Amino acid sequence: MTDRSNELTAWDRDHFFHPSTHMAAHARGDTPTRVVTGGEGVYIVDRDGRRSLDAFAGLYCVNVGYGRRQIADAIAEQAGKLAYYHAYVGHGTEASVTLSKMIIDRAPQGMSRVYFGLSGSDANETNIKLVWYYNNVLGRPEKKKIISRWRGYHGSGVMTGSLTGLELFHKAFDLPRPPILHTEAPYYFRRADRSMTEEQFSQHCADKLEEMILAEGPDTVAAFIGEPVLGTGGIVPPPAGYWEKIQAVLAKYDVLLIADEVVTGFGRLGSMFGSDHYGMKPDLITIAKGLTSAYAPLSGTIVSERMWRVLEKGSDQMGPIGHGWTYSAHPICAAAGVANLALIDEMGLVDNARETGAYFRAALAEALAGHRLVGEVRGEGLMAAVEFVEDKDDRRFFPAEAKVGPRLSAAMLERGVIARAMPQGDILGFAPPLCLTREEADTVVAAALGAVKAVAAEL
Ligand SMILES: Cc1ncc(COP(=O)(O)O)c(C=O)c1O
Repeated sequence: MTDRSNELTAWDRDHFFHPSTHMAAHARGDTPTRVVTGGEGVYIVDRDGRRSLDAFAGLYCVNVGYGRRQIADAIAEQAGKLAYYHAYVGHGTEASVTLSKMIIDRAPQGMSRVYFGLSGSDANETNIKLVWYYNNVLGRPEKKKIISRWRGYHGSGVMTGSLTGLELFHKAFDLPRPPILHTEAPYYFRRADRSMTEEQFSQHCADKLEEMILAEGPDTVAAFIGEPVLGTGGIVPPPAGYWEKIQAVLAKYDVLLIADEVVTGFGRLGSMFGSDHYGMKPDLITIAKGLTSAYAPLSGTIVSERMWRVLEKGSDQMGPIGHGWTYSAHPICAAAGVANLALIDEMGLVDNARETGAYFRAALAEALAGHRLVGEVRGEGLMAAVEFVEDKDDRRFFPAEAKVGPRLSAAMLERGVIARAMPQGDILGFAPPLCLTREEADTVVAAALGAVKAVAAEL
């Protein structure tokens, strides 16, 4: 057994190119290899028998928790019956057709069709193409620019990496590319003018957006994309009034809204969709992660009826849409989606995200908000973040080299709990499976407090 572990470690160092990993350090053996072998509920276990409470649900995706038999059985049954057939030229399976209906039943009002992909990145790629296609059908070939936000995260492809507003994902990749632009992040804690109220800051963000649209020319700006709650950029709920003010600007200049709900879709905020949670009326919604709880890779673009009518016209003018993936609506993934959405309902996970989420965030704030290194504890539903500062009164941040965030997440792992060091800033992120109990929430909070005390003592 031990030999096998060593062999796996060697193969890992020599052959496995890991995403989002320090390549050289890992190949040298300076960073740990963790081979995960199982999971149940909110826990994962590795080959060394080490069990961790996964307070980030993988990459905020295992929403129903690990080890759910119902989904595994649905996958096995579909694989046995029909592992694959494509979805081109009107083909489908019972699973893919049923899943489309289940998604629209749960989606905000006015949504009409689902286009399936495999990842959040490819779904946003689809969105960009649909926005361009839409304006071409409408005879507006100049209206193509897409405005994203600094600190937004929308994927890692060429265009979706451009939508992403995080330096790490641009650096040395020659990104971002036109016609993608970035506007102010709705990050109240980091606002430049600290005298602003939340409402004033929201107005400032909307004004900045309007300035950009006017400077670029409204006839050239096609869409605005945003996560209802900023995710990878720091887990930041929008300041009061933000979406209302942003949508007023978009409506004024006939700019489409893409709600990227890859993280927030299917319950994470304690509502089925973040769009409903914040009164957003999107034209397109990106979904992935929570759609299958990551039991199989599946994403989607939900298209509004308003936009669909124009897309249909395009087919009448130009023939079938030239956009498709071999694995669109893959039957095994669709079967996982059907079982997963049924399980979310059965287990009452949307309500649990709201109720246990409120409990968890209150407990986290009570334990940590007063600590000298804690600048802010924030969140919504079962998404939460603790942001650390060197000096609370001055809101002075630590230099990146101090690696305070990664040290805190390492200290939490030593205490048996996985929290994510968010990539830009010293921010500990929490997004546990939506089945989290209050006792498990207490375990996470105790580990966070222990970690903060330990790291603070070293600083
Ligand atoms: C909001 C959002 N959009 C898109 C993506 C990209 O999804 P994927 O990693 O499946 O390509 C992510 C991934 O974390 C995300 O958080």
